[in-house]
Amino acid sequence: GEPKLIDPFARAITYLRVSVTDRCDFRCVYCMAENMTFLPKRDLLTLEELDRLCSAFVGLGVRKLRITGGEPLVRRDILTFFRAMGRHLETGALDELTLTTNGSQLERFAADLAAAGVRRVNVSLDTLDADKFARVTRWGKLTQVLRGIDAAQAAGLRVKINTVALKGFNEDELFPLVDWCAARDMDLTFIEVMPMGDLGNEDRVGQYWSVRDVRARLEEHFTTLDLAERSGGPARYVRIEETGQKIGFITPLSHNFCESCNRVRLTCTGELFMCLGQEDRADLRAPLRAHPEDDAPLVSAIRAAIGLKPKGHDFDYSRQRPDGQVSRHMSHTGG
Ligand code: GTP
Ligand code: 5AD
Ligand code: SF4
Repeated sequence: GEPKLIDPFARAITYLRVSVTDRCDFRCVYCMAENMTFLPKRDLLTLEELDRLCSAFVGLGVRKLRITGGEPLVRRDILTFFRAMGRHLETGALDELTLTTNGSQLERFAADLAAAGVRRVNVSLDTLDADKFARVTRWGKLTQVLRGIDAAQAAGLRVKINTVALKGFNEDELFPLVDWCAARDMDLTFIEVMPMGDLGNEDRVGQYWSVRDVRARLEEHFTTLDLAERSGGPARYVRIEETGQKIGFITPLSHNFCESCNRVRLTCTGELFMCLGQEDRADLRAPLRAHPEDDAPLVSAIRAAIGLKPKGHDFDYSRQRPDGQVSRHMSHTGG
């Protein structure tokens, strides 16, 4: 049907990203401090509440749901939620149910996710070197993630790899990553590190490696073809003629993609953030809990919230505060 959520800049909101937990079994250095404090469990929406909320969005024209975290697969009983959302695929109300994961639990979940209607997963992987992997995630085991990726492919899921471009960390792995993904028929997206969460001892300015640079380097070795198609996300894609694979670039800092933004993000506590890089938000947990039998107040709250969506974000390292510009965590808002 017609999109029913239109923001003040005439953008149709058809993509909801949902963080189902702020918890994660890794502590990637650009994402979380090692001693990260997680939210008390009572603040989290229950799976039933998440179902009701997401279903309300689907009723309002959302066609794509991406489940994120934290690490979505560490949330207890998460398959129940995937199966509940799968019913919207069956009715045709939803086009895509997908997730972004660190892959650590994928070996265990891949087949059930596929059975619930998931067709693709995005797996975060910043390096193919086991020692570097343990360093960037603070203790993650690369082999476990690689087994998860294999299991996902064996279950028939398309896998896209997300790599955060980190200066002095994975610059030397640009071509190995491209080759490794090509050999496995996986697409690959490079993401610029964004100023979010605690900085701790981390130096985001020093970590920042422009994805424009990544692309320029790729183009020294490969012939690339610009693809007009967008997946409904912020990535721009090229096809590498030599390998046939698709490479995406997410460049929130060096290239602004806000004019075509189609998404909002729901936190695990029921706050709706209108933009990853802005503070505009609305609490949906209150209308949800105050009216357990009536969705009308919830629907009004959602409509009012969409009316607050700002024109764009404004990440800017030149004005970065010592504690990071957006103190919110990516794991809370879901990236
Ligand atoms: P597809 O295009 O559907 O494959 O997904 P996606 O790239 O939107 O999803 P994914 O979760 O893989 O996104 C990767 C990362 O891109 C996110 O974790 C964020 O770091 C970043 N990102 C996604 N959406 C936005 C956005 O709206 N603004 C900004 N600044 N970054 C975003
Ligand atoms: N900047 C860029 N990407 C980030 N991610 C987490 N924190 C940041 C950040 N500060 C990425 C992860 C993963 C996705 C969920 O978000 O690497 O690919
Ligand atoms: Fe966990 Fe993903 Fe954050 Fe790494 S980037 S700590 S895997 S939520």
